Amino acid sequence: MSVLRHWHPVCLSSRLGRRPVMAQVEGHEIVLFRTATGQIGALDNSCVHRRMRLSCGKVAGEHLVCPYHGWTFNYTGAGESPGTPKMTAQAPAYDVREEWNYLWIRQAGSNSPFPDLSVDGFAPVRPLEHTIDAPLEVVLDNFTEAKHVASVHSYFGYDLDRMAEVQSHVEPSEFEVRVRNTGPQRSIPFPLRWAYAIKTGDTFHWEWVTRFAPVHVTYDEFWTDPQSGQQRGVHARIRIFFYALDDHRTRLVTFAAFKLPFSPVVNGFFLMFRDIARWLVGWEMSRDADMLAQLADKSPGIEGMKLSRFDRLLALHRDRIERVYRE
Ligand code: FES
Ligand SMILES: [Fe+2]
Repeated sequence: MSVLRHWHPVCLSSRLGRRPVMAQVEGHEIVLFRTATGQIGALDNSCVHRRMRLSCGKVAGEHLVCPYHGWTFNYTGAGESPGTPKMTAQAPAYDVREEWNYLWIRQAGSNSPFPDLSVDGFAPVRPLEHTIDAPLEVVLDNFTEAKHVASVHSYFGYDLDRMAEVQSHVEPSEFEVRVRNTGPQRSIPFPLRWAYAIKTGDTFHWEWVTRFAPVHVTYDEFWTDPQSGQQRGVHARIRIFFYALDDHRTRLVTFAAFKLPFSPVVNGFFLMFRDIARWLVGWEMSRDADMLAQLADKSPGIEGMKLSRFDRLLALHRDRIERVYRE
């Protein structure tokens, strides 16, 4: 069974205009199109007639027109041949949903539930998109591990010298893996410390839960005063969806939201903060992408690696990717 039975975020809503757009999941191509009345269709990108890419075609009224011999398809995939009008065919179609300014697809007929995107009072920012030149498993390894943040990231996270103080608690269950990390926030530049209302040495809580249908991680990032234990500063709730474009490239779609600790008046300042915070999340993620691109061996296998206490997740995730996601 295809992973496409789960919902996948495949295209920014605003990217789908009058022209069809091609999306890709695990090497499988899908064409998305928007008809004149605003219906959105998602079909296999290979024309049922002689396998032309439908994404090279165009939209005319309520139909997508194949560029090769002019078959037409409506948004449900019902197709007709122009030369043989009695000849019809059904193109494999997908369910489409628009959430958070993103288009999500799932194989028609599947009952896989839509992932939880709730924000509970956090203020959302526009989605972020990254493509990383490494397979899904290897990318997920990086995004569910606290050790690299000290060396790879620029601002947030722990100090390499104080890594031994970082507590990492892993709680696996049948369908998800929960991790809680706490440790001292490393030194960060004054403007960021100020904007986030935190101090160097505050306890940085980095907690996440990884789910596999589809593969996504929900992160909670917040700080507490190491003396009183009181929470202070910004609280971020970040959800990243991961899927393979093909065997070598992984797509990441990030939905971030932030909660501010200030008075309502000061929180009004948030409009500006929001773009800075979004930029920072994107920046830190591009650091991951650059690092992963340089791996000497990107194969997802873990045999022969010298793994440490932070690396227990590699096997837990591979098991769930096979069993829950790919099945
Ligand atoms: S391949 Fe599409 S109409 Fe012939
Ligand atoms: Fe990272």
